[in-house]
Amino acid sequence: MSKINNTKIINDIEQQQKAAMSLDSNSSNKKINSIRSVSKIIKSEMTQDGEGVTLNRSFPNNFISEFDPFLLLDEIGPTDLIPGKQKGFPDHPHRGFETVTYLLEGKFEHKDSQGHAGIINSGDVQWMTAGSGVIHSEMPEKEFSKNGGRLHGFQLWVNLPKSNKMMKPRYQEIPQSKIPTGTTENGNVIVKVIAGTSLGSKAVIDTITPIMYMHFKLESGYSIVQPIPKEYNVFVYVIKGKGIFERSNNSQIIERGNLVIFDKDGKEVYIKAVEDSKVPLELLLIGGIPIKEPIARYGPFVMNTQQELYQAVEDYRNGKLR
Ligand code: FE2
Repeated sequence: MSKINNTKIINDIEQQQKAAMSLDSNSSNKKINSIRSVSKIIKSEMTQDGEGVTLNRSFPNNFISEFDPFLLLDEIGPTDLIPGKQKGFPDHPHRGFETVTYLLEGKFEHKDSQGHAGIINSGDVQWMTAGSGVIHSEMPEKEFSKNGGRLHGFQLWVNLPKSNKMMKPRYQEIPQSKIPTGTTENGNVIVKVIAGTSLGSKAVIDTITPIMYMHFKLESGYSIVQPIPKEYNVFVYVIKGKGIFERSNNSQIIERGNLVIFDKDGKEVYIKAVEDSKVPLELLLIGGIPIKEPIARYGPFVMNTQQELYQAVEDYRNGKLR
């Protein structure tokens, strides 16, 4: 009996030691590996908005209503406009948040009820803080509309904290030439920095709450690790090519049109362009600090309470929202 017991005790101790060792290796792995894990992959859904503009909408949808502080992400097109058939977004209001338009191809004309107008060319960004309210139109520019051509871009909606929801509207219009870019030493990864900092380049756009918005292009087989502040929620939207977003042997390959949402379990996001792809990987990496306030939304109005929402609709109807 005593012999059996001794063997059992020795086995138990060995097992405990093994368990302790594996715990050690797990915890040290956790310390070394600060790459965020992929938590969700959401395929964008084709839809139409405005006067019938084709969109790929990542959210809101049945799976995700918002991703604090972000309220919506649309990929506009890619679509070929038929000459003379203008499709855009005629007069509509916004209150309580920001719209960020980033055009890759095409030309858009923007006009608001206060007389502010401008052209967004391919590569340009318009960061509009609607604040207390604007009524505007976003239409293909006249010549572009007449001649037709490829339209491709993005619109992101960024929520505003309660303290800024009724701020005076503000526009930041940054032409492609003024958007900072960064590159790795070998030149195989380049980034346009619309908000935040990447590869040593800092954005020129001022954001109300801390936001990062980057357009990465990676040649096939190359990778990058982008630091992410720990409080940030962050996602990637794949525009072209195929990417891998975790450092493991069974990492899923993610193709264009997909949104990749990351857990907040690390300080970096890993991005790799698959080796056998004929086209480089292009993606948007977008993140920000969650606002953590109640959201009451109705179409183009995003407030904190139902009462404020009714007020927004009321102000719009009475011509007070301008
Ligand atoms: Fe709009």
